[in-house]
Amino acid sequence: MVHPVLLCGGSGTRLWPVSRQSFPKQFSALMGAESLFQGAVRRVSGPGFAAPVVVTGDPFRFIVSEQLAAVQTAAAGVLIEPEGRNTAPAVVAAALWLAARDPAAVMLVAPSDHVIPEDAAFRAAVRAAVPRALAGDLVTFGITPTRAETGYGYLELAAGADPAAGAPQPLARFVEKPGAAQAAQMIAAGNYLWNAGIFLFTAKALVAAFRAHAPDLLHAVDKAVADAVCDLGFTRLASDPWRALSDISIDYAIMEKARNLAVMPYAGRWSDLGGWEAVWQETGPDAAGNVCSAHATAIDCAGSLLRSDSDGVELVGIGLTDMIAVAMPDAVLVAPRAESQRVKEAVAALKGRA
Ligand code: GDD
Ligand code: MG
Repeated sequence: MVHPVLLCGGSGTRLWPVSRQSFPKQFSALMGAESLFQGAVRRVSGPGFAAPVVVTGDPFRFIVSEQLAAVQTAAAGVLIEPEGRNTAPAVVAAALWLAARDPAAVMLVAPSDHVIPEDAAFRAAVRAAVPRALAGDLVTFGITPTRAETGYGYLELAAGADPAAGAPQPLARFVEKPGAAQAAQMIAAGNYLWNAGIFLFTAKALVAAFRAHAPDLLHAVDKAVADAVCDLGFTRLASDPWRALSDISIDYAIMEKARNLAVMPYAGRWSDLGGWEAVWQETGPDAAGNVCSAHATAIDCAGSLLRSDSDGVELVGIGLTDMIAVAMPDAVLVAPRAESQRVKEAVAALKGRA
């Protein structure tokens, strides 16, 4: 059995105004009727998968339980972090919690804000990677890179690795979020994959990696899990040891340091929906290149995303080319598609005014 661990503590600012601090993108129905989180739950369910463990922040706990109920899923546990400390503490907490219940647990750590439309192919890739995880390796999932993106981790394939083999491959090293020049070099070299941010390992191997590379963090999280309290079915990690933790991702804490790494290449579609441009692309524009939601109408538009998330607001674009327009009941975004990464500037500007 693979135990899915769904991380949903992040707060995406690049998909404002749909994604908000109080309702981040993973809980939004950005593509289709279900939220990204619900899509992630469905993707890791079925034969061979145990009920998921969800790790999230206190403000999101009821959103999580409502959205799980809506897809008829009972979590094995919902761990509540007293405060966000990035992915390393979240993953260790899940590993320790799982290991206490099943010392041989294999865990699949997955973000809850990605789009991976081919569920069956993804599950097949996970199953193909299980033997490698059982052998003690930390398995990442690798995506064929298409540009020198600096927001991702890069996986250097070891000499002789065959990314088309359909089985886990040895890794030479893991480089988290390189600078632009290094990213360009790695793309030119051709023997790198992007880290999808999805990991498969035994809880035991993960704990061993933390014991070797981040023992203080392991110790503090161990205390937070041991002193956790049950509250309305949620597992509240203990505040004091947790708040003292530093903010660090699993990529920096472990993956860049560990030597027992492998990568399962994944050839299916994958997107981390890093902005409105990606939503436009992943939704599948019509013949004119437009994506229109309900309550949105494009007249003589091309290459544009028109979206109204508000029943009472009809959004109409006329003569627009390569634009994004998103209307919420309390906020409207209008920007050229090419500038859509700058949405985080809007969030910062509005914060400054609040
Ligand atoms: N529970 C919890 N607590 N979840 C968190 C926290 C936290 O404090 N911080 C982030 N997450 C969740 C996010 O919601 C997301 O689902 C996932 O963990 C990854 O965090 P991101 O903050 O989105 O990481 P990233 O996108 O910068 O980088 C990671 O993903 C890339 C692929 O999208 C890295 O793993 C990169 O190497 C990778 O390429
Ligand atoms: Mg991300």
